[in-house]
Amino acid sequence: MTQSQSFIHRFEPATRLEAPPLLLLHGTGGDENDLLPLGRAVSPGSALLSVRGQVLEHGMPRFFRRLAEGVFDEEDVVRRAHELADFVEDARERYGIAAPIALGYSNGANIAAATLLLRPSVLAGGLLVRAMVPLSRPPKADLAGKSVLILSGLRDPIIPSENGESLAAMLRDAGADVDRRVVPVGHELSQADLLLAQQWIAARRVSATHDV
Ligand code: MLT
Repeated sequence: MTQSQSFIHRFEPATRLEAPPLLLLHGTGGDENDLLPLGRAVSPGSALLSVRGQVLEHGMPRFFRRLAEGVFDEEDVVRRAHELADFVEDARERYGIAAPIALGYSNGANIAAATLLLRPSVLAGGLLVRAMVPLSRPPKADLAGKSVLILSGLRDPIIPSENGESLAAMLRDAGADVDRRVVPVGHELSQADLLLAQQWIAARRVSATHDV
């Protein structure tokens, strides 16, 4: 674990040149260790930058404050998304990585969506697992050239299906190439998510095939 540049994080360097760097963003109550195994499984050989959210809700780390489940403090979302974007910019320089694809789960997927909308240049795209609309009135963003995969749960008790669809529409309107898939589970991660994420990332590996 490293504590620097204001966010506690872990970094694993790339071992495969063609594998895109990933920014890993955990769900409520998680930390910087949580998604490392998922990141390694989704995109073997990718550089992994895994960050701990700085907001505590009853001791559980998150990336922004909420007023209730699914009801966000949007001022805080904006502030925290900018702080995360600043951190990613510094980390890119420090570790020498390209703009990462954000792989976020739940609260981590929501801050990733907010960061895409508020600071598009910081991320190459997003793999958003159980994401919802993070901002009711997002700024006009230019997401042309960025790809986003949204993985929603058919029986998710936290995120109504229309909300996932609205997020997809919002990102599409901003110019992103968005694919939304609905897996037959709830809010939890499943094997189906892993397979879809692996396929989506595999299509985004650059053509080189050698080790770093
Ligand atoms: C959020 O607060 O970001 C969503 O309600 C998902 C969660 O973290 O439970």
